[in-house]
Amino acid sequence: MNAQALLTQLYDTPETDILEQIKQLKAELGDQVLILGHHYQREEVFAFADVSGDSLKLSQQAAETSAPYIIFCGVHFMAETADILTSDDQTVILPDLAAGCSMADMADDEQVTRCWQQLSEIINPDECVTPVTYINSTAALKSFCGEHGGIVCTSGNAQKVLEWSWGNREKILFFPDQHLGENTAMAMGVPDSDMIIWDPALPMGGNHADAIEKARLILWKGFCSVHQLFKPEHTDTMRRNHADIEILAHPECSRAVCETADFVGSTEMIIKRVSEAETGQAFAIGTELNLVNRLRIQFPDKPIWFLSPMVCMCSTMFRTDPQHLCAALTSIRDSRNGHQTINNQITVPQQQKRWARLALERMLHLA
Ligand code: 13P
Repeated sequence: MNAQALLTQLYDTPETDILEQIKQLKAELGDQVLILGHHYQREEVFAFADVSGDSLKLSQQAAETSAPYIIFCGVHFMAETADILTSDDQTVILPDLAAGCSMADMADDEQVTRCWQQLSEIINPDECVTPVTYINSTAALKSFCGEHGGIVCTSGNAQKVLEWSWGNREKILFFPDQHLGENTAMAMGVPDSDMIIWDPALPMGGNHADAIEKARLILWKGFCSVHQLFKPEHTDTMRRNHADIEILAHPECSRAVCETADFVGSTEMIIKRVSEAETGQAFAIGTELNLVNRLRIQFPDKPIWFLSPMVCMCSTMFRTDPQHLCAALTSIRDSRNGHQTINNQITVPQQQKRWARLALERMLHLA
């Protein structure tokens, strides 16, 4: 049965049966399959993850596993990262190929190459600029970083990566998320006068030559459409309404929000902060809704609010539903029985893989 026909059949099946099928397929395939689940996944899918985590933990896990099949319940750049870090005889599957990341799409290879060329009209970037890509980026950009002496970072290790990068070269070009770069630099005490924004839609990113010569951190103008919905007013409201509340924010939130927060960290760090707090400690959390709802259930003794009065959900993370997970497991079973080829396999081209792996390994060695 082809992939579309299988999905159509699964959508006609009651969800309780689908969950049962997933359970059986997992038992049948055993250690042949590792399911990685990002914290933003919906509960029905998250429950089947063998390992859950933030981007850093999941990439470490992908680099360590010897399972022949990896199903990545997350978004496209995460599955690409897993494919880069695993060996050629391991297969990485993204259950729904439409699960992308709008921020990752805000910088492409052509734009970054153009930026590098424009910078080279003023400075010698290969001598004085370390390119740093947030893991939320295409394999092509990770490859660009590997080839140009650069590195990958996640929200869990951005400070270490910036320290490494400035240790090597005097300037950093940070893409595609302006906010992670800016918030990390701010926490490190880097003054505003050392940072400029690079708008890829403008010549020279919208900067004068002297600003580029002076800058130590060049921040790509990109953002996460979920985290940009949090506002400093939301923090003010929470503090007014709840005494002693702790505000936790993901570093993809704007600087204005992070400056008002008590703690800024990756999804894994946010979970740790909540789990280690005393009973009764109240929190307002500025990150994706599925994770905040899960924390509420997990820690009923700690009042937890979503920081924004609006629903901030990552619609692409939400695409992976039990039907797609079931289809991915079915496809593995059928391909092992010789009935069909694997559906939704993510394969990064070899020439990109080599450099992208180098950029990722530089990051993993810092841990
Ligand atoms: P974490 O690495 O903190 O889980 O963040 C991943 C992400 O994509 C946030 O939008």
